[in-house]
Amino acid sequence: MNSNTQYNRIAVVLHWLMAILITFSLLQGTLVLEHTPNSDPEKLPALQTHAVFGLVIGLLLILRYLNIKLRNTPEPANPIGSHMAWMSSLAHKLIYILILSVVGTGMAMGVEADFANLFTQTSPMPENFDNLQTRTAHAILTKLLILVLLTHIGAALFHQFIVKDRLMRRMRWKRYNR
Ligand code: HEM
Repeated sequence: MNSNTQYNRIAVVLHWLMAILITFSLLQGTLVLEHTPNSDPEKLPALQTHAVFGLVIGLLLILRYLNIKLRNTPEPANPIGSHMAWMSSLAHKLIYILILSVVGTGMAMGVEADFANLFTQTSPMPENFDNLQTRTAHAILTKLLILVLLTHIGAALFHQFIVKDRLMRRMRWKRYNR
């Protein structure tokens, strides 16, 4: 396997870093934030961490996009023109769009709920964020993101263990045949 069948190292680092941060944010949002009342003193620091992680994910997504545009991407894992190639391309685009939309609705929520003043504690926490339309959008989009990411992971495992085409090597730091 050579550089034409492997992602460049910056792409590899960005991919796994984003995977860790997104997994953390999805778990924190679903398991902690959603169930912690705004009256809980733990809510503010959790929300601050969540917002910072979310913004970092947005930044990494832009870097990943630039990396793809400026550096060579490996040859497609599936035969060009095949049903699998079409599905894979669609899923990858959907993942980018959903991450961007989740970060976007998170930021919009920050504007709508005035996070700047909440975070500097110059205004009190509202009773909850339930009446915000941006929160509903954020919640729906995060669920869609979970669904698409699970499909993405399932497809990678299918390639790796059923098709046995060593797909995971494309996203490894180690280079082959160099
Ligand atoms: C990729 C980045 C992000 C992910 C994966 C993510 C994930 C989540 C999830 C899963 C929830 C729970 C949704 C639900 O109610 O079902 C949530 C809630 C929330 N997120 Fe995010 N989020 C991200 C970015 C952001 C950003 C950038 C901000 C703000 C600047 C933000 C602000 C919030 C707020 C305020 C809530 C609601 C907390 C509550 O229910 O009290 N998120 N997020």
